[in-house]
Amino acid sequence: MAQAVTSSQRDLDLKHLWHGNLQHRNLEARPPLEIASAEGCDVIDADGRRYLDGMAGLFGVNVGYGRREIVDAVAAQMAQLAYYPLTQSHGPAARLAARLAALLPRGLDRVFFSNSGSEAVETALKMARQCARRMHPGENRYKIIARHRGYHGFTMGALSATGQSPRRTAFEPLVPGFLHVAPPDPYRCLFCASQPGCTLTCADEIERVIRMEGPETVAAVIAEPVIGGGGIFPSPEGYLERLRAICDRYGALLIIDEVITGFGRTGKLFGFEHAGIRPDILTFAKGLTSAYLPLGATVASEHIFEAFLGDADAKFTQVSTFGGHPSSCAAGLANLEILTRERLWENSAATGAYLLERLRGMQSRWVGGIRGRGLLIGLEIVTDANKTPLPEARMVQLQREIREAGVLVGRNNDSVPGYCNVLILSPPLILSRAQADTIASAIEGVLGRL
Ligand SMILES: Cc1ncc(COP(=O)(O)O)c(C=O)c1O
Repeated sequence: MAQAVTSSQRDLDLKHLWHGNLQHRNLEARPPLEIASAEGCDVIDADGRRYLDGMAGLFGVNVGYGRREIVDAVAAQMAQLAYYPLTQSHGPAARLAARLAALLPRGLDRVFFSNSGSEAVETALKMARQCARRMHPGENRYKIIARHRGYHGFTMGALSATGQSPRRTAFEPLVPGFLHVAPPDPYRCLFCASQPGCTLTCADEIERVIRMEGPETVAAVIAEPVIGGGGIFPSPEGYLERLRAICDRYGALLIIDEVITGFGRTGKLFGFEHAGIRPDILTFAKGLTSAYLPLGATVASEHIFEAFLGDADAKFTQVSTFGGHPSSCAAGLANLEILTRERLWENSAATGAYLLERLRGMQSRWVGGIRGRGLLIGLEIVTDANKTPLPEARMVQLQREIREAGVLVGRNNDSVPGYCNVLILSPPLILSRAQADTIASAIEGVLGRL
């Protein structure tokens, strides 16, 4: 009976669903996993097979699956007030905004809710442009500087900030005014190839671009504390501090995209905390509700909010029907309660360091670069000492074999031509050492047979 349901559901999927980033011609032979249930760090497919979810869905299920507390909070909220827009107000949104402000450094306390990471970024970009024009009357500050390999979302603005050409070209021309510079990539860094160590020249490149473009045209710089989907590039020591100083020098706003790194992923509550800087605007989604419900948040510092006070034209001209949905905010509140009670960023730091060491100890000739922060880890797979990337078709096979071994891992597909050779790990933050061993053994076993 269960089998019959499964195959008919598979037929419906193949006939009617349109999956992003998948070639549908191949789906008949290789249908996507149909996930039926989940608990803790595990997901279970429709045939009853259990996998350790080394990706927390898509970098999101930070507190793990099956948390009754979140389910109950959402059910209670749905029963009391299923919906009301933030054209007026409601308790869950106000309480969650206050909770976020209390977790963030002083002054970062104005929250605009949306429904996803893309929308949180879209909102940040619009906020930055409108704010820059208000803060610098007479100038024309609209340009946004981002990094190659960075990912910021699928909507046109967020995609314009994204530095991954395979994701962009089909939709060009994109939004004007976005510029890209090299990411911090110590493994393949051209700036520092002849230097004994990192010189932060890639950060200084941003200053050079601002000066060349004219500071009076630049609204903001946007950066992930650790580039995630683009191949896992943690900011080197001093990098974000350098960005902060450059933005201050030229009057540009610093937008930190914490859609992946927020809420414990990198071993601290927020990714920017590793650098001790204060961003002007922050973007959140995924871990904000541990992906139990869709929710995005853009947090602006008080001085940005104040730039919008005054005459009627000054308001931030954006409205969202579903942004800050009461049920999503209730999920967010319950999620943050769990995350802070269990101090999950500490396990992320400790188990992440353990997993990183285990992976480094593999001594596989296939693993060129290995990098990470907390439970966000990337393994760059190469075929030789010249760092030749493993071709993408073989990366797909590798990922599939690790899945056959019972572990789901990610990879940086469609992110940069010729270099989609990074395996990605981003498991729930409740991962135990035994589960970290399971992940490492599965990868080790498959690489050993390559
Ligand atoms: C850093 C970053 N920003 C924004 C987004 C977009 O988020 P969403 O897929 O929820 O729209 C993502 C998605 O992976 C992301 O990694």
